[in-house]
Amino acid sequence: MGLNVEKIREDFPVMKREIHGKPIIYFDNACMTMRPVQVIEKINEYYNEYPACGERSSHKLGKRVDEGVDQARESLKKFIGARHTKEVIFTKNTTEGINLVANTIDLNKGDVVLGTDREHNSNLLPWQKLASLAGTKHEIVDPNPDDTFSIENFEKKMSRDVKLVSIIHTSNVDGTTIPIKEVIKIAHDHKALVLVDAAQSIPHHDVNVRKLDADFLAFSGHKMLGPSGTGVLYGKEHLLKKMPPFMVGGGTVEDTTHTNATFDEPPDKFEAGLQNYAGIIGLGEAARYLMRIGKDNIQKHEIALNRRVTDGVGDLVDIIGPNEPEKRSGIFSFNYKKVDSHEISMMLDEMENICTRAGAHCVHSWFNAHNINGSCRASFYFYNTPEECDKFVDTLKKVIDVVK
Ligand code: ALA
Repeated sequence: MGLNVEKIREDFPVMKREIHGKPIIYFDNACMTMRPVQVIEKINEYYNEYPACGERSSHKLGKRVDEGVDQARESLKKFIGARHTKEVIFTKNTTEGINLVANTIDLNKGDVVLGTDREHNSNLLPWQKLASLAGTKHEIVDPNPDDTFSIENFEKKMSRDVKLVSIIHTSNVDGTTIPIKEVIKIAHDHKALVLVDAAQSIPHHDVNVRKLDADFLAFSGHKMLGPSGTGVLYGKEHLLKKMPPFMVGGGTVEDTTHTNATFDEPPDKFEAGLQNYAGIIGLGEAARYLMRIGKDNIQKHEIALNRRVTDGVGDLVDIIGPNEPEKRSGIFSFNYKKVDSHEISMMLDEMENICTRAGAHCVHSWFNAHNINGSCRASFYFYNTPEECDKFVDTLKKVIDVVK
């Protein structure tokens, strides 16, 4: 059964808004999704009813915060299929999760971290920094001639020096998804660990860390209906136990002396200082909301929207990535001739309140390697409608008429 999008949209207050008498068509979901009233109410519940400290205050309000955080951690555990809540570390975003691993994992001079040619800056810069500080190397897997991920090239790159594969699951440039289960199996056969950048996959695909056997997996709350400044790093318990803390401070220790400290077990040793309790509690609600909707439904809906747009205007523009929308999930990223992507994006916004993103999408390395300045990207989610897609197609045709 398909999604009842009309009913779903009632949950999103922003969708009732108009700007200059026109509705907003929000196609920038790969950057940030909108939030349903259930998440907003959960955040407000914290501020209205128990806006206190967690983990340290034994009064009733403090206990209520602990209950909220525990419930959220349990929901996130279920959401990703983790074995234990100890494996769910709250972060502020995917970037922080990857930096946490890069700063605490035991990698030494000559060890190789392997990624693809289209890693987000957040899964590139931490490894470039580690290379300059510790003498590790960051290498990339060359794509297939058609520019898709090559499992053969990946396997060829695996050597005894590769200690960590830190890899994007779904690309924010073109929406393609790599065969992550196979990648993890090959990496493990070569005794390498795998960190999955799931920022763009987890809002759209079923991601189960146990079934995948992922060692680490990072994602952001704001791309999956959750509050800004929230995220999760999953790590296998035995790995997290061995790793030193990243940021240190209150909440990470059992005890200290003037010269020493005894650190807590995970996840506490990785969650330093007072936390974003409202955000964490809101993120738990977002995970529950998505579990109710179901990722299969989300995928089907997004691909149908992407097909509608691709059929409508795909022939007029240069699509980044494969032509088939089925291979691009909810992403329609494109250029029109040499026209600056920002110009197209601004015109879509000016004319019909259509929100897209333009530029290099924080993957400058890929665009530089292809000698392209950037792209205009429409990214869909389960609350978008076919009518919005039709409006996008019509408006983009008008934009093309102006700029051609
Ligand atoms: N990386 C996010 C995007 O692709 C911000 O828009």
